Amino acid sequence: MKNKGVLTVNGFLASESFNELYGFFLDAAKKHGIELAFKKNSELLFDAVNNKPIFDFEADFVLFWDKDVKCAKQLENAHFNLYNCSRGIELCDDKALTHIELSKHDIPMPRTIIAPMTYANIGYIDTDFIDTVIEELGLPLVIKECCGSFGQQVYLAKSRDELIATITQKAGTALIFQEFVETSIARDIRLYVVGGKVIASILRENMSGDFRANVANGAKVSPYNPTDEEKKLAIKACDKLSLAFGGVDLLFGKDGTPLLCEVNSNAHFKGLYECTGVNAAEKITEFIKEDIN
Ligand SMILES: Nc1ncnc2c1ncn2[C@@H]1O[C@H](COP(=O)(O)OP(=O)(O)O)[C@@H](O)[C@H]1O
Ligand SMILES: [Mg+2]
Repeated sequence: MKNKGVLTVNGFLASESFNELYGFFLDAAKKHGIELAFKKNSELLFDAVNNKPIFDFEADFVLFWDKDVKCAKQLENAHFNLYNCSRGIELCDDKALTHIELSKHDIPMPRTIIAPMTYANIGYIDTDFIDTVIEELGLPLVIKECCGSFGQQVYLAKSRDELIATITQKAGTALIFQEFVETSIARDIRLYVVGGKVIASILRENMSGDFRANVANGAKVSPYNPTDEEKKLAIKACDKLSLAFGGVDLLFGKDGTPLLCEVNSNAHFKGLYECTGVNAAEKITEFIKEDIN
């Protein structure tokens, strides 16, 4: 039986909540007879031109719990078997890439316009395109940095002036503009998918006055029983994004129609566990064990 794995994490994120996640994985590995070593991305350097690892270990799988896509790609080129794979991580890390990829697969999403790219030292010196964005998406509208999490890089612009102020401040950062889904204000659902199945779901509601339903912004969670439509959507999104596991955020569209908001390739699961009792680390470990054997 193949049972040797490496858990790869970001060596520069040493916060308490990350350490806890690693603990979950180490416990799950023990329970399933998996030998799980622990490596920081800073310990996984490559002689890039020769694609030669400057480290020495063998593993049946790498549980790649980070967004260091370049490290992931080099590991794959050196024939390591990654969960999630670099493509899945890359497509999820950038919200514009997620929407562009899923647009090929008939996935309902809020209307979205990808901001034209500019340079930090130049900025948006010509803002004519803003009128098109407002005409298409209306106001208020949502602005998101392509790379961000915990709702920290998601903004609401209520007027043209607010919109200009935000994009001016963020010039040089990749952005998307999105229709504000009013029917989902301060509420969304998170479906956790592992190996093509929804293992647990939560409803997140924010009563603090913030439109964002992230727990980091004050949202409260409760167990949620997703409809078949919501489950199918979450599973399909993970499949099309090449994810073995992922946290899928869905918004409530008109008449309750689910709309895909974003997908996280390595979604935190402690809150999910406390709310539902489902341990995603165990489900992920079971899935990988079965998949490699
Ligand atoms: N288009 C939208 N309309 C209304 N609310 C939204 C929209 N997009 C995001 N939100 C809210 O903002 C939160 C954070 O957005 P999300 O895209 O999931 O970014 P993050 O990666 O930071 O979690 C969502 O959970 C949701 O509550
Ligand atoms: Mg989110």
